[in-house]
Amino acid sequence: MNNIISIKDITYTYPDAVSHAIDNLSLDINTNEWLSIVGKNGSGKSTLTKLIDGLIEADSGTIEIDGQTINEDNIWDARKKIGIIFQNPDHQFVGATVEDDVAFGLENQGVPRPQMVEKVDAALEMVDMQDYKTRDPQSLSGGQKQRVAIAGVLATRPQIIIMDESTSMLDPKGRKTVLDLIKRLRHDQNMTIISITHDIEETQLSERIVVLDNGRVVKDGLPESIYNLGSELTNFGLEEPFSSQLTQLLRNDLKLPEGFLNEEELMDSIWKLSSKM
Ligand SMILES: Nc1ncnc2c1ncn2[C@@H]1O[C@H](COP(=O)(O)OP(=O)(O)O)[C@@H](O)[C@H]1O
Ligand SMILES: [Mg+2]
Repeated sequence: MNNIISIKDITYTYPDAVSHAIDNLSLDINTNEWLSIVGKNGSGKSTLTKLIDGLIEADSGTIEIDGQTINEDNIWDARKKIGIIFQNPDHQFVGATVEDDVAFGLENQGVPRPQMVEKVDAALEMVDMQDYKTRDPQSLSGGQKQRVAIAGVLATRPQIIIMDESTSMLDPKGRKTVLDLIKRLRHDQNMTIISITHDIEETQLSERIVVLDNGRVVKDGLPESIYNLGSELTNFGLEEPFSSQLTQLLRNDLKLPEGFLNEEELMDSIWKLSSKM
């Protein structure tokens, strides 16, 4: 079994809403995959996250997590396998110190005190925040806050991390630190990463992009195949990647290779052409 998550035909309508937030959606996610979910505001990305995490229950259809179809009896076990990092780190803090905060999830799971201290230390080390243990989370920078939030998630050892626009409030440096960390975790801890983002550059880190529109999957493919949609991407609330806009402009004058080129490939092609001139 390679699918850590298998979603079949789920539909969900919010109480009193006139239309479905999620409309007959099916999606399989492989173990250890890094999947990006994109789509304009209101397309259903956060609702899908809540359904996967069992915070709300689908009207119809099934969700399998790690081989188990989730139901009322096993939802708590399933939730232990999932960690969610939200957009605004300020809304995620519950502790007065960094270490209290990271311990919160473990406390909820009833982990005994001595083990808790060990797990908190290990999680803070993974995000390189061990020197900030006794600090007030509010005194940290945006990137540091998000790393503490990630430590809180990591302490409970989830198999799946869902990032719901978790880098959108960070500056470029904070964003890079967080994404480098996620890259390393996925590699070292064999985690599955689901990243919801509006940042097309960020999707280049993933292996597959799923595009949601009106609660449905409308595109599902390799990043290159999604970038090749070019200006059609704006229909899904996305910017074209910078390298793809630039390639388009340069194609008027230069004979560049077909298809999507990332920044490195574009530079290489330009170098090759200029050395022939
Ligand atoms: N708590 C809610 N009550 C009613 N409707 C909601 C609620 N949350 C979201 N919706 C609606 O459900 C749809 C999907 O929203 P959401 O999943 O938040 O989209 P996204 O995360 O892609 O921006 C939208 O039409 C939104 O207005
Ligand atoms: Mg959302």
